[in-house]
Amino acid sequence: MRKNIVAGNWKMNLNRTEGIALVEDVLAKLPSDNNTHVVLAPSFVYLHKVAKMCANTSKVVAAAQDCSANKKGAFTGEVSASMLASCGARYVVLGHSEKRANFAESNEILKTKVGQAFRNDLKVIFCCGESLSQRESGVHFDWIKAQISESLFQLSSEEFKNIVVAYEPIWAIGTGVTASTEQAQEIHAFIRNILVGQYGEEVAENTSILYGGSCKPSNAKELFASQDIDGGLIGGASLSSDDFVKITQSF
Ligand code: 13P
Repeated sequence: MRKNIVAGNWKMNLNRTEGIALVEDVLAKLPSDNNTHVVLAPSFVYLHKVAKMCANTSKVVAAAQDCSANKKGAFTGEVSASMLASCGARYVVLGHSEKRANFAESNEILKTKVGQAFRNDLKVIFCCGESLSQRESGVHFDWIKAQISESLFQLSSEEFKNIVVAYEPIWAIGTGVTASTEQAQEIHAFIRNILVGQYGEEVAENTSILYGGSCKPSNAKELFASQDIDGGLIGGASLSSDDFVKITQSF
């Protein structure tokens, strides 16, 4: 059966001291019988520290927010998948709409990044999602299908088991506007159906598909109760240990 996952994407927030305090709080507040797979994605610069803090517990694992498409070498400012793995990351978030928009990340580049992640035994939280204008003009289904197929369908069924898909409608990110449960469920079912077509029922049924976009304690329960929503990728609300832990307990 697929996992329920709640991942906190801290984005470019919190200094080192604040980040450490947040991890301490999350670890202290997560109940010992917690059944949710919890992931934290801090900044690169203290990923190692966060991973170390999480290594003493089975409650939380660390993720990076991105990795380079290149293996190593003269790529100033970039961080390779192998560096992340050596710092204790277990996941890497790829294809976030903010990276796609600010760094012109194409589906092709993301395909290469997925390859780098897999060669270094990192699981991938792969983000997809449409803008408001794409939704309004009705191209969002084709757009999401292209994002997934062009970056992920080179993977074998065996490899795909290490993919978590995150549906993040751009119009819901950081806006306070959440996709309605019906809107989110519709896209999640659509994504699962695409996976059935490529990999068959078993792989599709075992793939966790997360929702992201203004997810908070007040709406997480309803979202996570939907058949195809297996958790969340949380931005703003992951910066509060109370809110984040509440979301992890919303299944
Ligand atoms: P918010 O939860 O702040 O809307 O951000 C969602 C997101 O982008 C997580 O990756």
